[in-house]
Amino acid sequence: MTNQRFDVLIIGSGLAGLGLALRLADTASVAVVSKGPLHEGSSYYAQGGVAAVLGDNDSIQSHKQDTLDAGAGLCDPDCVDYVISHGPENIKWLIDQGVGFSLDIDGSHYHLTREGGHSHRRVIHAADATGKAIETTLEQKTRNHPNIHIIEHSIAIDLIPDSKIGGSENRCLGAYILNQKTGKIMAVSSINTVLATGGASKVYLYTSNPDTSTGDGIAMAWRVGCRVANMEFVQFHPTCLYHPEAKSFLISEALRGEGAHLLLPDGTRFMKKHDKRAEMAPRDIVARAIDYEMKKGGLDSVYLDISHRDHDFIIEHFPTIYARCLKFGMDITRNPIPVVPAAHYTCGGVMTDLDGKTDVENLYAIGECTFTGLHGANRLASNSLLECLVFSQAASHAINQSLKESSSPPAELPKWDESQVTDPDEQVVVSHNWDELRRFMWDYVGIVRTNKRLQRAQNRIELLKDEIDEFYSCFKVDNNLIELRNLAVIAELTIRSAQLRKESRGLHFTRDYPQPNPDLQRVNTILVPNNFNAKI
Ligand code: FAD
Ligand code: SIN
Repeated sequence: MTNQRFDVLIIGSGLAGLGLALRLADTASVAVVSKGPLHEGSSYYAQGGVAAVLGDNDSIQSHKQDTLDAGAGLCDPDCVDYVISHGPENIKWLIDQGVGFSLDIDGSHYHLTREGGHSHRRVIHAADATGKAIETTLEQKTRNHPNIHIIEHSIAIDLIPDSKIGGSENRCLGAYILNQKTGKIMAVSSINTVLATGGASKVYLYTSNPDTSTGDGIAMAWRVGCRVANMEFVQFHPTCLYHPEAKSFLISEALRGEGAHLLLPDGTRFMKKHDKRAEMAPRDIVARAIDYEMKKGGLDSVYLDISHRDHDFIIEHFPTIYARCLKFGMDITRNPIPVVPAAHYTCGGVMTDLDGKTDVENLYAIGECTFTGLHGANRLASNSLLECLVFSQAASHAINQSLKESSSPPAELPKWDESQVTDPDEQVVVSHNWDELRRFMWDYVGIVRTNKRLQRAQNRIELLKDEIDEFYSCFKVDNNLIELRNLAVIAELTIRSAQLRKESRGLHFTRDYPQPNPDLQRVNTILVPNNFNAKI
């Protein structure tokens, strides 16, 4: 029988998940599930900041235009309008929660930084550790709220559809959740379930993301019948620290916003040759330029140099990056930083409407796991945290409304059935498949694609999927197997989407179709699962 019941079950505790939990908790019973400790996820590591119109000379129109330009013809203008115009009030919400953003030198205004593709200074930040400032503030509020039940170190395995209790409605009843410490699996029943599980960049060998980003929410939604869109648009951040011991450490785009130059090993600047905006071009262009220069020169990395700026300015604005690089013996106030591109952001995901509703009734999705139409073919820097905020606000309104209208209690759910499975005999299968999958995604579905490379990737994923599915059906699940099964879905959806887009646009670049096709302007890549039965 069901172990726990709530009005709202939120899977994920990044900015999207905690933002929603805090907005709902005064009126509903809420559970928040987190794979690791509550703060762990991409949100905690965000550096640059949150984009919103806050400066005197800026305008909503300008932020919208920059978002549309970066999105290369694929943004949904209604969604862009909705998100950008709700930006300022959501920044105020964060300030009201107690987030301490950095102030200008005279202390009278918030300091706004610049990032690529923005025509104004509009990125509010807490030095270079914006995500940490936001997450720790919201974490404390969440822990202190009596209506929020926290389920940490626990991984959602699958959503529970109505068919699980013999029904025929296209609705979600909750989720099965594995407690990683006890090994026990419980059924959590909820009137509304929300996926806030973040992105899927761990599907690539090199990524700026923490270990949590395995696309679980996208895979779970796909399995339960939700459409998934635009998975070919994977954002590679141009500048991650290149050092053997520096796993996933980002060097914020804000360095370029504050004047840093990209250099070849001989000290030559190269970005002007690729785009007239040089280092301030959008990320897809900068990442491809670096990839080109590295391949051409057989380089291990290029260099990012901010040492021409004042010593104290660098340390005040980038204390985290300064300290981390110093730990590896690099003083960024004196020397250039070795950098390489790495998978950073999943622009595609679970399709939702402007309330965060998915194709399945009572199932919402918010944050990086979604496709809302905001980012199009390329996300504008610092628009992601903004999207998390605006959609947690929107979903809170929709969920509150539906709770007022619906009187049905959470359903009684069957227990997880382990009667047909045994303990795994060879864990090496799982670890080998993890490595293989992430490597071929990096080699064949990376920054520059070709038909041949995508075909190779497709051949490999077909074999791997069969092996993983067989393993999953025979053996008891653990964290590694659950995530591997989800990564295989992500890889398959990404490869399929990339094969369907026969043009180059935004983040998707293929040598076989190097130009955008004007007929594909506004055409998204929508994948429809076999069990699809739309509600939105
Ligand atoms: P996350 O913050 O990733 O949280 C996902 C949550 O879901 C985690 O709690 C995780 O444990 C949980 N979870 C996942 N799967 C499961 C499961 N199966 N069961 C239970 N729990 C699960 N964006 C900006 O706008 N500005 C920036 O400055 C910026 N800097 C960045 C710097 C770095 C290094 C990185 C990696 C990203 C950055 N981004 C930035 C992107 C931005 O941080 C993310 O897109 C955003 O934080 C995603 O928030 P989220 O709440 O959707 O997901
Ligand atoms: C960064 O600080 O460079 C990351 C910003 C983002 O991903 O939006």
